[in-house]
Amino acid sequence: MIEKVKLLNNKKSEALVAGGLKRLEDQHKKGKLSARERIYILLDEGSFQEIGMFVTHRCTDFGMEDQVILGDGVITGFGTVHGRLIYIYSQDFTVFGGSLSETHAEKICKIMDLALQNGAPIVGLNDSGGARIQEGVSSLGGYADIFYRNTIASGVIPQISAIMGPCAGGAVYSPAITDFIIMVDQSSYMFVTGPNVVKTVTNEEVSSEELGGAMTHATKSGVTHLVADNDFECLHQIKELLSYMPQNCEDKPSSKSWTLGDESRPRLNNVLPESSNQPYDMHEVISNIVDEASFFEIHKHYAENIIVGFARIAGRSIGVIANQPLHLAGVLDVNASKKAARFVQFCDCYNIPLLVLEDVPGFLPGTEQEWNAIITNGAKLLFAFSEATVPRVTVITRKAYGGAYDVMNSKPIGADMNYAWPTAEIAVMGAKGASEIIFKKEIQQSANPIETLKSKETEYAEHFANPYIAASRGFIDEVIEPRDTRKKLIMAFAMLENKVVQRPKKKHGNIPL
Ligand code: HXC
Repeated sequence: MIEKVKLLNNKKSEALVAGGLKRLEDQHKKGKLSARERIYILLDEGSFQEIGMFVTHRCTDFGMEDQVILGDGVITGFGTVHGRLIYIYSQDFTVFGGSLSETHAEKICKIMDLALQNGAPIVGLNDSGGARIQEGVSSLGGYADIFYRNTIASGVIPQISAIMGPCAGGAVYSPAITDFIIMVDQSSYMFVTGPNVVKTVTNEEVSSEELGGAMTHATKSGVTHLVADNDFECLHQIKELLSYMPQNCEDKPSSKSWTLGDESRPRLNNVLPESSNQPYDMHEVISNIVDEASFFEIHKHYAENIIVGFARIAGRSIGVIANQPLHLAGVLDVNASKKAARFVQFCDCYNIPLLVLEDVPGFLPGTEQEWNAIITNGAKLLFAFSEATVPRVTVITRKAYGGAYDVMNSKPIGADMNYAWPTAEIAVMGAKGASEIIFKKEIQQSANPIETLKSKETEYAEHFANPYIAASRGFIDEVIEPRDTRKKLIMAFAMLENKVVQRPKKKHGNIPL
């Protein structure tokens, strides 16, 4: 027995060294943690249970039979985060650059299957040179096995991908199918084809960082939802993110206990500027509504004219979607619509109620927008809200104009409650544009067209730039003083907690992609 236990321990020690101390040192020199260190930091202490530690590749080409490393470049298993079960894989760059072999893929698939069958989130820590070049098509098949499982698990269990090193070629498509991507700044990148191929095909000179670094994907493409300064922060952000989610689509998000106190927030009565054309920071409204320091922003650097993120209100997890008047006056454009639609869909998949804070002058006009399909992309948001069956509450702080009013979780598309501040303006379009159209003849025939336009503008604004016509038609449930917003929302979300909506039977909807 002693000898057999010794053999076991020797094998374990061999697996722990993986690609060797020299390669581990190189990993640290790059400011990166090892694959194992990452797991230990992410999971609750002592909770990690490894599966497949002794798995090896089966390749016999290119001298690979002499290079067999226990674990084959990926550490897989399960453990807990804040006491809740998760499944995890962490690619080990010290073993063939973390590249994906047939057996490496099998290990990942095994824990994906377990995660799906047992209804718990899966977290992938990616640090890989892509398909194991020595294995050819077996490795490509392995990727496809993972993509397929990512798709089947979508909407059933939350899936989070951290990019903590290279991620090239087809390897980017597994993270892209998952719910959230977090990239580590300066040490990770994602692209389908790298700088060398780009140079050959398009003659563009571009660095890896510029082509597919964290800030590129955070600001230009929107591929990544979050950016972390280093590995530690990345793992911390994953823990944060998980804390807002349920374990699976049949579960409710965990909530923190809350004792109702004085929930009025007088500061909200003074956030809006005097003129309705002046900007203000919607973050201030959010922070005065949600529980202190509970707002966790997603896609912070992308389409800043709309803000999305998780928060808690009286301890309950919610998803916040808010127009941001500080950027492009909070207008809806292609990127803002895509960003918000994706977030709404995630929240609806996982029973996270939606809070919409609305101050939107409309859709952004122009050829650039039309040619980039603002029609299809705006429809994504309309579709995502209309489809959502979670509790849905809107607060109109100021502008709610045109189609954007409909899109931003209006009552006719299924919102449960619509509140408005007394400053709300709900109309088909702004007073000037509206007057120019409906009083066109009167203005043209008048002796002083400029004055006539002005007086018609005032007349239109007085009539529509308020919430009372909408309230009289039932489109607004209650006009509230801003200071009472938090209190009203706590009560509304409590009232909606057991909401059940039946939809007609279908295979799946056809969101305008
Ligand atoms: C096998 C690989 C490998 C790979 C790296 N290594 N990538 N082994 N298959 N794909 C090995 C290297 O041989 C080296 O081994 C070790 O990993 C570290 O690699 P280095 O190049 O020394 O490290 P670094 O300079 O940091 O560069 C990392 C890298 C580079 C940028 C990832 O290695 C690279 O460009 N690799 C190839 C990337 C690629 O083209 N992958 C295929 C993409 S196509 P030693 O023994 O020296 O330590 C693809 C298709 C998937 O993935 C399609 C799915 C649909």
